[in-house]
Amino acid sequence: MGLFGSSKKRSHDAAAVITGAGSGIGAAFARELANRGGRVVCSDIDETAAGATVDAIIANGGEALASRCDVSQLDDVTALAIQAQSWFGGPPTVVINNAGVGAGGLPIGELSVDDWQWVLDINLWGPIHGCHVFTPILREAGYGGIINVASAAAFGAAPGMAAYNVSKAGTLSLSETLAAELSGTGVNVTVLCPTFVKTNIVDAGRISDRSTQLADMLMRWTGFSPERVARTCLDTMDRDGLYCMPQPDARIGWGIKRFTPTVYTRAVGLTTRFTTP
Ligand SMILES: NC(=O)c1ccc[n+]([C@@H]2O[C@H](COP(=O)([O-])OP(=O)(O)OC[C@H]3O[C@@H](n4cnc5c(N)ncnc54)[C@H](O)[C@@H]3O)[C@@H](O)[C@H]2O)c1
Repeated sequence: MGLFGSSKKRSHDAAAVITGAGSGIGAAFARELANRGGRVVCSDIDETAAGATVDAIIANGGEALASRCDVSQLDDVTALAIQAQSWFGGPPTVVINNAGVGAGGLPIGELSVDDWQWVLDINLWGPIHGCHVFTPILREAGYGGIINVASAAAFGAAPGMAAYNVSKAGTLSLSETLAAELSGTGVNVTVLCPTFVKTNIVDAGRISDRSTQLADMLMRWTGFSPERVARTCLDTMDRDGLYCMPQPDARIGWGIKRFTPTVYTRAVGLTTRFTTP
């Protein structure tokens, strides 16, 4: 079996680039890929946080490099690709467009245009920049995996979360389109759609106090660990999977939404009316 034969798992011995690797799911991806023998470029807008992830990997005997990159800036993502290829001595084999921010609590019409812009610049333009810059490199190499971190919010239609929902629906569609375009090239696309994961996203986001309390509670009660989500997603990539919904509530919501979209959306609205004081 050749190097890139079917027995090779993409998540093993990878040359990986991860955005938003300074915290939460991105840091968990970085540690897990290093555990699986990979060299990992950990990028983040917060270089100190990226450095902490790198230090933990190196302390564990792995290889990693920290890099500052604001995913909302195309020039930063272009520079990241150049730096990563120079460090790897070749193309990356795994690219994870993970960086994202949370926003919620205000309905459409009250959410400021500035907040809309902020969320879409990072959560949607981030993955667009990542796919725009890295896809030609992986396509040319004829091997690899691109993981885009969306959310169950992509199809959940939760009220008060319009900007976040739209950014994640866009990331879902971006991933599906890219998967179709890359079909037969040796490059797999996986889109990760979790519900709650125990990370810093609520504290770091622009979320109203009431919504923060609710999100904190749901995260504590139902949230998976970022490590579990990262492992499940990498295993999905290794099986050439497109959709990764690590939690049962995401899979149930996805099923109901697809088969009875109008009933689903009205039920979400009704539930929110009864649970909002
Ligand atoms: N935590 C959840 O419940 C949950 C659920 C579904 C999807 N997600 C998605 O998972 C991804 C990771 O989020 P997390 O939960 O680990 O949050 P987190 O806040 O713990 O980590 C996000 C990281 O992204 C970085 N970041 C923020 N803006 C950036 C930018 N412009 N450029 C580069 N890096 C930037 C932050 O510095 C931070 O290190 C996000 O895309 C998020 O939307 C999270």
